[in-house]
Amino acid sequence: MAVEAFGLTKRFGNFTAVDHVDLSIREGEIFGLLGPNGAGKTTLVRMLTTLMRPTEGTAKVGGYDILREPDEVRKAIGLVAEKLILYPRLNAVENLMFFGRLYGMEGEELRRKVDELIEMVRLEGFKDFPIGGYSSGMRQRLNIVRALLHDPRILFLDEPTAMLDPQSIRFVRDLIKDLRKGGRTIILTTHIMEEAEELSDRVGIIDHGRILVVDTPEGLKSKLGVSNLLEVFLELTGRDLRDRAENRIPIRAVGRM
Ligand SMILES: Nc1ncnc2c1ncn2[C@@H]1O[C@H](COP(=O)(O)OP(=O)(O)OP(=O)(O)O)[C@@H](O)[C@H]1O
Ligand SMILES: [Mg+2]
Repeated sequence: MAVEAFGLTKRFGNFTAVDHVDLSIREGEIFGLLGPNGAGKTTLVRMLTTLMRPTEGTAKVGGYDILREPDEVRKAIGLVAEKLILYPRLNAVENLMFFGRLYGMEGEELRRKVDELIEMVRLEGFKDFPIGGYSSGMRQRLNIVRALLHDPRILFLDEPTAMLDPQSIRFVRDLIKDLRKGGRTIILTTHIMEEAEELSDRVGIIDHGRILVVDTPEGLKSKLGVSNLLEVFLELTGRDLRDRAENRIPIRAVGRM
């Protein structure tokens, strides 16, 4: 198994964001994690990628325990987070060189990898421009390959196509399909049912921190007797709007670049 979660739980004060999640994700599959706003997807991903300590439970990722072997987990995984992790004043090459050095890469090896990744997302014509001037699609393509510098066996993508134009969406979805070749495991969160249906071998639907079902898109549709995944999703999570306002004061203004 690429990922195995055992009773994984995260509480913020007395609010439970992720509630005793047991989950097995197979090696080489694309696993779609679906859920309404605030369902706990990002919190679950943050725990599995060692960015946040669970309140209870644990998980194995790439065969390593997230609590006891976090460094090994970090070597095995790549994360494309919801927010961009790139420096706007640096160009594409400088950005990737910086992150590559954090992974202990250097010299020719790093330079070759950086060029390969920049070509993979067709940014070679723009690689010397500060990325603050890129379109959001270009930035997101670079943000995705930033997670691939160390060639991780397991890749987490948190809403990778949110706010992209149709051309960029097509490109990123095709890229995700390519990335699973060679047996890489991909865990993808998305709100776009059509995307989950197109890409996922299996999907898990999460709501109020609990996994409701895990199955193939086909399996879920036939079980519920509906023709598309959006109807499956609404059947399981309800049709109520998930409006919610929080009084948390932001530590610093976080805006997209
Ligand atoms: N650091 C935090 N402190 C307090 N509450 C938090 C914190 N992080 C997340 N939450 C709450 O936990 C719940 C789950 O949040 P999470 O970001 O995991 O949801 P999500 O499924 O990723 O939603 P979205 O689809 O909007 O990205 C939300 O109600 C959120 O407000
Ligand atoms: Mg989220």
